[in-house]
Amino acid sequence: MTKKEHFDFPTARILGIESSCDETAAAIVENGRLILSSAVASQVDLHAQFGGVFPEVASRQHIRAIYPIVDQALKEAHLRLGDLDGIAVTRGPGLPGSLVVGINMAKGLALGSGLPLLGINHLEGHLYSAWLGHEEGELSEPPTFPLLALIVSGGHTELVLMTGHLQYQRLGGTLDDAAGEAFDKVARLLELGYPGGPAIQRAAAEGDPQAFDFPRSWLGEGWDFSFSGLKTAVLRAVQGLERDEEDIPVNDLAASFQQAVVDVLVGKTLRAAKEFKAKEILVAGGVSANQRLRETMQAEAICPVSIPPLALCTDNAAMIAGAGCYRFSAGHRDGLEMDAAPTWPIWEVVTGD
Ligand code: KG4
Ligand code: ZN
Repeated sequence: MTKKEHFDFPTARILGIESSCDETAAAIVENGRLILSSAVASQVDLHAQFGGVFPEVASRQHIRAIYPIVDQALKEAHLRLGDLDGIAVTRGPGLPGSLVVGINMAKGLALGSGLPLLGINHLEGHLYSAWLGHEEGELSEPPTFPLLALIVSGGHTELVLMTGHLQYQRLGGTLDDAAGEAFDKVARLLELGYPGGPAIQRAAAEGDPQAFDFPRSWLGEGWDFSFSGLKTAVLRAVQGLERDEEDIPVNDLAASFQQAVVDVLVGKTLRAAKEFKAKEILVAGGVSANQRLRETMQAEAICPVSIPPLALCTDNAAMIAGAGCYRFSAGHRDGLEMDAAPTWPIWEVVTGD
């Protein structure tokens, strides 16, 4: 097999474990593409009372959920550890106390079964979620490179050029709030609840995206992003309306905010795609669930756009298992001394081929 074929069709069946934030998840993926099982235990209801993720509560909940969720993933796939090729687990970035729960579970399984352990970068997992499916027939074409990837999640906004499988070159990222964080903060400001992204999207569907002319932070010709000015502009608008004792048009504010975020994300991504002659655009991470972002990117791009199915946009373990298949094929292995990497940038992952 040539190098390209070996990467496009990695032959492996991997168990993935994810516990970097507020979902405890386990999944089994075959050959980097086919999901044999995917189980997610969300802690969203637990954290809603705090208006955001409470790290101490998150790690304790992971401890309760991790064994049952791994057991569920194996049972749903009708497989045992001996049927697998490796155990992939999110090594970072993420909350340290949450990451170690998944990592220790993976180490225990690797030790007990003799299977290799693979520490996976969470953002790499988000990227590899784009090519996953539940049925052979629904699997998309393998990616074409160079590929321009926009990763937009609760903790990250990164523009990355993928020159090949597992090869990343950083172009830019947020200088302040991540895109998802901006959604969450503005949702709190508008008293729409947590998590903010879906709540803003719902309110925005009933509002006018042109009602408020919020700033678009282009930061010149570079590839960085900034969302804190936009967040402050929404706050000022609300304060102004309150001062004048006017009703707060929550839906219009949500729609105008969402439009400002989408304009900048799409505008920069398309400009970078052109500049770097990308053959494909990929959008991944929790915010890629946003309908407006999905539709606008698809409508305006001149090259193919891959976006994961909705259920795989937010955190899950199929993405970790999927990336794990590629890493397994590339020869990547970690030892049992592997530590969590809470701030691990995706462009610093090492390719083992
Ligand atoms: O990838 P993810 O599940 O977790 C992290 O790795 O951070 O992303 C979670 C983020 C949250 O900030 C959430 O508000 C945002 O994704 N999100 C959305 C939508 N669904 C989730 N943002 C905008 N529109 C959505 N529909
Ligand atoms: Zn994530």
